[in-house]
Amino acid sequence: MFHHAAMGFELGGRRALVTGASAGIGREIARELAARGAHLTLAARRLDRLEELAVALREAHGVEVEVVEADLAHSHGAGDLIAACGEGPEIDVLVNNAGVGMHGDGVGHAWVDERQMIQLNVIAVAELTKHFASRMRSRGTGRILQVASTASFLPCPGYAAYGATKAFVLHHAEALDEELRDVDVRVLALCPGSTNTDFFEISGNVRGRAQVATSLDPAAVARAGVDALQRGRRVTVPGLANKLTTAGLRVIPRRLQATLARKVLE
Ligand SMILES: NC(=O)c1ccc[n+]([C@@H]2O[C@H](COP(=O)([O-])OP(=O)(O)OC[C@H]3O[C@@H](n4cnc5c(N)ncnc54)[C@H](OP(=O)(O)O)[C@@H]3O)[C@@H](O)[C@H]2O)c1
Repeated sequence: MFHHAAMGFELGGRRALVTGASAGIGREIARELAARGAHLTLAARRLDRLEELAVALREAHGVEVEVVEADLAHSHGAGDLIAACGEGPEIDVLVNNAGVGMHGDGVGHAWVDERQMIQLNVIAVAELTKHFASRMRSRGTGRILQVASTASFLPCPGYAAYGATKAFVLHHAEALDEELRDVDVRVLALCPGSTNTDFFEISGNVRGRAQVATSLDPAAVARAGVDALQRGRRVTVPGLANKLTTAGLRVIPRRLQATLARKVLE
C-alpha cells in the first residue's frame, strides 16, 4: 500500500544525508532537496566546497545544513560518517551518491586504485545502507536513493569493474526495496547515463560523440532522482535516449550487449 505514487514522501523538515555533495550530481541533489524543504547533512572529502554550498543553501532555503568531511574510499570512512551522524539529528533520507569511475584496461589497472573504487562504490554504499535502513525500519519510515548508472544494466568493456560496482548497487537496491515492501522504507535506484560532471575526467576517459550528444546536465538528473524519491519509484533512468537504450538492452543477448558497449565505451 505504501507503493502508491500519489502518497508522496514529504521532504519538508526531514533530514537528508547526501554523500559526494561537493560536486556534480550530488551537489544538485542537495540543492533540489533543500529547495523542497529538507535539512541536510553533506559529506565528501572537499570540506571547503561543502561549506560554501551549506552557506548558499541556508541562505536560499532557510534549511539547516551540516557538513562532514568523509573519505568513503577508506575502510573506516563509512563507519566514521555513521559515527558523526550519530551525534546529529535522525536521518530520514540517505542519498548514496559518492562514486568514481575507472576507464581503460580492466586487467592492467593498479589494484590499489581499483580496490579503492570498489570500497567507495560498493562497500561504503552497502555499509551506509545497512545502518540507515535498519534505523529507518525501526522508526517505520525513510527513503534511500542509490545513484547507480545505465552501466548497471550491461557488461561494460572499458569500464569493467566500474560497471560491475554499479550492477551491484542496482540489484542490491531492487532486492532490498522488495524485502521492505510492507514498511514505509524505500530503497530506490537512480540510473543516470552520461552526465556533464567531472566524472569522465576523473575516470580517465574522453567521451565519444554519441555519449556527449545524449548527456544530461546534473540538475536534470537530480530533479528526476528527487522526484523518484518522493514518489517511491524503484528504478529511474533519466532522459529519453537513456530510457530507450536501457529498454532496448532487454531484448539483446548479453554477449552482444558487451560487443556494442565496447564500441561505445572503449
Ligand atoms: N557523470 C556521469 O556520467 C554518471 C553517470 C552515471 C552514474 N554516475 C554516478 O553519479 C555519482 C556522482 O558522480 P558525478 O558524475 O557527480 O561525479 P563528480 O562530479 O566527480 O562527483 C563525485 C562526488 O563523489 C565524491 N567522492 C569521490 N570520491 C570520494 C571519496 N573517496 N569519499 C567521499 N566522497 C567522494 C566527490 O567529492 P570529493 O572529491 O570532495 O570527495 C564528489 O562530490 C557517482 O556514483 C557516479 O558513479 C555518474
